[in-house]
Amino acid sequence: MISPASHASVPDSAIVGTGLGGCPAALGARDPLGVLDLFSDDFVRDPYPWLAALRSESPVHHDAATGLWLVSRYDDVRRVLLDAAVFHPDNALRAVTPLPVAVLRVLARAGFTLPPALANNGTPSHAGLRRVVTRFFNAERVTAAVPMIRRVAEELLERARSELDATSRCELFTSFAQVLPCRVLMELLGIDGVAPATLIRWSDASLELFWGRPALERQLELAESVGEFHQWLTDTVRGGTAPPSSFVGALARHRLPGGEPLDAETAVAACFFVFIAGQSTTGQLLATVLQRGLTEPGLWQRVARQTGLAEAWVEEVLRREPPVTTWRRITARATEVGGVSLPAGAQLLLMLQGSGSDPEIFPDPERMRPHRTNIRHHLAFGVGRHRCPGASLARTEAAVALRAAADRLPEVRLEQGGTESPMLDLLSFRAPLRVTVLR
Ligand code: HEM
Repeated sequence: MISPASHASVPDSAIVGTGLGGCPAALGARDPLGVLDLFSDDFVRDPYPWLAALRSESPVHHDAATGLWLVSRYDDVRRVLLDAAVFHPDNALRAVTPLPVAVLRVLARAGFTLPPALANNGTPSHAGLRRVVTRFFNAERVTAAVPMIRRVAEELLERARSELDATSRCELFTSFAQVLPCRVLMELLGIDGVAPATLIRWSDASLELFWGRPALERQLELAESVGEFHQWLTDTVRGGTAPPSSFVGALARHRLPGGEPLDAETAVAACFFVFIAGQSTTGQLLATVLQRGLTEPGLWQRVARQTGLAEAWVEEVLRREPPVTTWRRITARATEVGGVSLPAGAQLLLMLQGSGSDPEIFPDPERMRPHRTNIRHHLAFGVGRHRCPGASLARTEAAVALRAAADRLPEVRLEQGGTESPMLDLLSFRAPLRVTVLR
């Protein structure tokens, strides 16, 4: 069994501004009954001692609670992601908490299905569908979108400014970090006929239902929202009125490897994933970038003026504290990872966050060092065939947002206790849910 190093061994000074925690020594004689719980407050608040213990003591570790094999060393995670023949993505979107019949019934009523489309697609249709996505988010498109991203950021920050002037406080997660990526995605993909707040609610509900540990009553509530989202996507795809320049329009023109058009279920599944992945993860990244940026000595004062500092800060947050903390694969046949034999059908949980703190690759991993030579070598966006096609957009949005916030709200500070704010605590997603600032 895995237990973390004593938290008492982590100096408080290591917590503010340098990323959390420090690496524990080997587990040695520590409490053998300490049980790793990936959903516990303990793990979510400070996963670093646990991740270090996993890397050093049990780098391919069977977690009895979830049935997943946790892979935590950088080299192992990278190898798995690059070997698409042995490690399939089919389990990427499976519900972590089994969905009881009553919940399945709610989803079925809305016609909910998720056939392989993007992240969960290891079939020959993947490459073509992925190309539809990458065309919307390639480097030129992202560069051309910068003025729009800046305009939306400044509009939202103007409102934050008014709130600060009126009340001396403002919460930047729900008013800024969450809304900016949603508005940007809607512009880039030509999404209309829905309010950003609704899209955010649907997206959050989907993440919690599939990656959380909700009780039955909550699952039922979430399933209603997810069903509503799916139904709306189905109506949009089947309605056939989406402009040709929109993402839905591009999917309608897409042809599968055999030349046949895409079926509506797969088109909906592609939209379902992209509409969630394209905004929630970036909102989470922004929340951490802002929270950490506000507590790093001197950063907030310099970041708007010093060329490249915002980009480098975003990169270090992606390495040390990424929003997508884990990702799944399943073995196609019996194999071995890190010297551990795995049967066919073994479900792997790749600890992306743990890989970014692997001292073999990133010296002094607990320190935020915007001048690391290998600053972009982290695996926060995956690698290989399924590598995130939104990486460039997410990086750009986060840097633009950080610079704009530091420029427009130069005098703010994080509310006392702000680093202890409630956290999003899903199996694969982690971020502060509040970034309250005062002046
Ligand atoms: C900070 C923000 C983001 C993070 C950390 C992130 C992370 C990831 C990760 C870890 C994967 C899985 C990679 C793999 O299986 O090898 C992925 C896949 C994907 N992401 Fe992102 N993502 C982010 C933002 C975005 C954005 C903005 C978009 C779209 C605009 C997007 C769209 C996708 C899609 C479509 C896939 C599936 C790709 C495929 O299977 O070929 N993501 N992302």
